[in-house]
Order: sequence, then structure tokens, then C-alpha cells
Amino acid sequence: MRVLSGIQPSGKLHIGNFFGAMRQHLQLQAEHNCFYFIADYHALTSNPTPAEVAGHTLDVAMDYIALGLDTEKTIFWRQSDVPEVTELTWLLSCVTPMGLLQRCTSYKDKVAQGLSPNHGLFAYPVLQAADILIYNSDLVPVGADQKQHIEVTRDIAIRFNNAYSKVFTVPKEHIIKSVAVVPGIDGRKMSKSYGNTIEIFEPEVSVRKKIMKIVTDSTPVEDPKDPDKCNVFALLKLVASPEELAEWESKYRNGGMGYGQAKKRLAELMIDYFKPFRQKRTKLENNIDYVKEVLAKGAERAKAVARETLEKARQAVGLKK
Ligand code: ADP
Ligand code: TRP
Repeated sequence: MRVLSGIQPSGKLHIGNFFGAMRQHLQLQAEHNCFYFIADYHALTSNPTPAEVAGHTLDVAMDYIALGLDTEKTIFWRQSDVPEVTELTWLLSCVTPMGLLQRCTSYKDKVAQGLSPNHGLFAYPVLQAADILIYNSDLVPVGADQKQHIEVTRDIAIRFNNAYSKVFTVPKEHIIKSVAVVPGIDGRKMSKSYGNTIEIFEPEVSVRKKIMKIVTDSTPVEDPKDPDKCNVFALLKLVASPEELAEWESKYRNGGMGYGQAKKRLAELMIDYFKPFRQKRTKLENNIDYVKEVLAKGAERAKAVARETLEKARQAVGLKK
């Protein structure tokens, strides 16, 4: 089974990204043949600076490798190193009805928020379809927010296969059963766009400070507290053992425990959880050439597959050599 997913390079990754998506990507490596790439072409739709494009791409690469990406087994590359995908995007664009893209909610939401869209943003799902189809992917693990893009991909693949010949594997979506939404320190969904994140590899002192600042209600120490309504408990669930979590749950319900106590323990557990990977992250920062080499090797392997599929698609539409 070929598994493929793309990650947008939009800065250093946070614990919401890790528990919501990355951890599952990394787990899938054990059983499947995985293709993971850094979607830098997609990132251009929000017009980052050139320095941001390059810097964020390397940050995401280092985060993934430090956290356990298997650089031998898994094919890991930078999307723009295989430009064949943009040619396939064009071939797919020509069988994609405008209406299909006009219905995409992630596009509509951005426009509704007042963003003046560029053509890249509108065509974004076609590039995503090309990413998936060019590598003959069977399974695409993504968050629920991407479900519609995978449906669009299936639709485009079927249209192309019917209009010409059966060039593409029609992929299945694999909605990551995430640990629900990871809250940020202000209690909203943890997201870069809200400035409420805890980055996976930020300095330990800063992790501690942020955790101590997590928003909680004003229930007095003596009173019982509802763990299901507490942001600190939501994060404890991610890193505490089931036994320890059960103990915290009864401390909450019995009263006599202050949130500060739970926060201190949460900080310890969170820091311990990522500790084994920190050293590797630092090593990678001091050896960027190695990171670039991993991406270059991945691109070579990805390109071989992409070229073959693109050639079939070119032949199918009549662009014969
Ligand atoms: P951000 O909102 O910080 O820009 P992205 O949209 O780039 O994050 O998210 C990348 C992936 O990480 C998504 O597929 C999403 O499923 C997952 N993710 C992001 N934030 C969270 C969160 N707070 N809780 C759970 N999963 C998340
Ligand atoms: N759009 C995806 C996101 O924002 C990233 C992405 C680009 C992707 N191409 C892909 C995901 C192909 C899966 C498959 O998260």
C-alpha cells in the first residue's frame, strides 16, 4: 500500500501538528511504503518571503527527521524538486470543472474572511491532486480539514481515466483519527495563525513558561473541577500514562488541587516526551548539508516515479513524442 502526504512549510511545527498529524505519519512508516513531501509550491499561495520559504522548508525537514522519519525507507522530499508535478497539474486542470473548485470550502472560507485570492489559491486542489496521482498513491493520511481535497482528487482521477485511459490509481482518503483538537495556551485550537502554540523544539524554559500561562477557569483550589473542560487536562491526556491520568482525573474531581500543580507536572511530562528527539534536532541544525542531502536523495527517488506517470498521462492526452 502506498501512503502519501504533504506538509506545508509554514514555520516550526507545534505540538498540535505533532499529535494531530505527524505522529500518525511516523507510525504509518512501520507498515507501509510512505511518500512524504514538503509542499513548498502550495505555501507560495500565501506569498511568504523567499527567506521564509527556504527557512521553513528546512525547519519542517529537521523536525520530521528528528522525530523519527526513516530516511532510508520513507521517501521524503521537497515538492518543488520534482517540477513534473506542475505539468501534470496542467493536464488535470483541463479536465477539472470550475464548479468543482468553486465549491471547495477551504478556498471559500479564506475568501469569506476577506482574503483577496490569487489564482494559485483557487487552483490549489488541482496541484494537490497532481501530488497524489503522480505517485500512484493508494492512501492519503490527512486531517479532516483536507477531506474535501481528497474527494476532489478522486473526482479528477475518475474524469481523466474516463476521458482518456486508465492512467491513475483512484486514492482512498485516510482521515487521521487525531486526539481531537489540541488546544493552544489561550484555549482556542492551537494554530500558528493564533500565536498560541507551543513548538515541539522550543527551549525548555519557554515551554515551561507557556504551560504556566495556559488559560484556566477561576475555580478555587478547594473546589472540585471538571477535567473535561480544562485545557491543561486536555494536554495531560497526550503525554501522561493512563494510570497517571486517572490519578489527575480524581484530583480534579475531588477538589483540593490547584491548576498550578497540574501545569507543573504537564510541563515536566511534555519536556520529557520530546527530550529524546531534541539532541537529534540540534545535531541536524549543525549539519544542514545532511538535511539537504536527505531531501535531494528523496527527490531523486520520487522523480523516477513521477516521470513515469507523467509520461503515461502525456501519451494518454495525445502529447506523443
Ligand atoms: P496551523 O493551524 O498551525 O497552520 P496546519 O494547518 O499547517 O497548522 O496543520 C498541519 C496539520 O496539523 C493539519 O493536517 C492538522 O490536522 C494538524 N493540526 C494542526 N493544528 C492542530 C491542532 N490544534 N490539533 C490537532 N491537529 C492539528
Ligand atoms: N493541503 C495539505 C495541507 O494543507 C498539504 C498537501 C499538499 C497535501 N499536497 C498534498 C496533503 C497531497 C496530502 C496529499 O495540509
